Amino acid sequence: MDQVKIAPSLLAADFANLAEEVGRIAPYVDMLHLDIMDGHFVPNISFGMPVIESLRTHTDLLFDCHLMTTNPDVYFDELKQAGGDLAMIHIEAITDPTGAAAKARRAGLGFGLVVNPPTPFTAIEPFVELSDMVLIMSVHPGFGGQSFMLEVLPKIEAARKWVDKEGMTVDIQIDGGINPETARLARDAGANVFVAGTAIFRADDPVAAVTRLRQSIDGM
Ligand code: DX5
Ligand code: ZN
Repeated sequence: MDQVKIAPSLLAADFANLAEEVGRIAPYVDMLHLDIMDGHFVPNISFGMPVIESLRTHTDLLFDCHLMTTNPDVYFDELKQAGGDLAMIHIEAITDPTGAAAKARRAGLGFGLVVNPPTPFTAIEPFVELSDMVLIMSVHPGFGGQSFMLEVLPKIEAARKWVDKEGMTVDIQIDGGINPETARLARDAGANVFVAGTAIFRADDPVAAVTRLRQSIDGM
């Protein structure tokens, strides 16, 4: 199975100390998950390009940008300029993402698709081949600190089955309510990229929290 990757979600970090919060965990993780919310696609507002641009001057980590916005493709050029690496867009925001995938590539970004808990995997199945990563949401998007929805586990299995059957090298990411226990369940179902906000940034020792996550995922 694909390599395990840990993606801390900045949403749970101390926004007044972002450089320090990111710097502390950077050597131990594989990418930084950036939740961009517009108050329209989801009922919350987080941060946007200026914050990403500032962070980029402090770290070389891959920026995994989870766009919870209406018309996500409108922001691709700005996102690249700000230092974004991967544009993850919701299938619920765009019915046919073929054009958006091409636009992301033209902008110099990686591309991926996201499905909300009620949306079946079949909604993105035809477009997985256009993606570097697919994200299966395990909470309703908009807020950190929610509980993992066990009912999405079969969807992770469906995604893993499809990716392996087609022989594609597409990462399968899970986001929402990830802690050592739920990460293990998601791993068993076939996920290989684990987003965690609360479990990492709200822990007393975020580095130890990353280690605990990895150990649980590896079945130790
Ligand atoms: C929710 C975001 C998540 C969130 C996860 O809309 O997409 O990335 O930060 O937070 P936790 O890990 O606390 O569930
Ligand atoms: Zn997210």
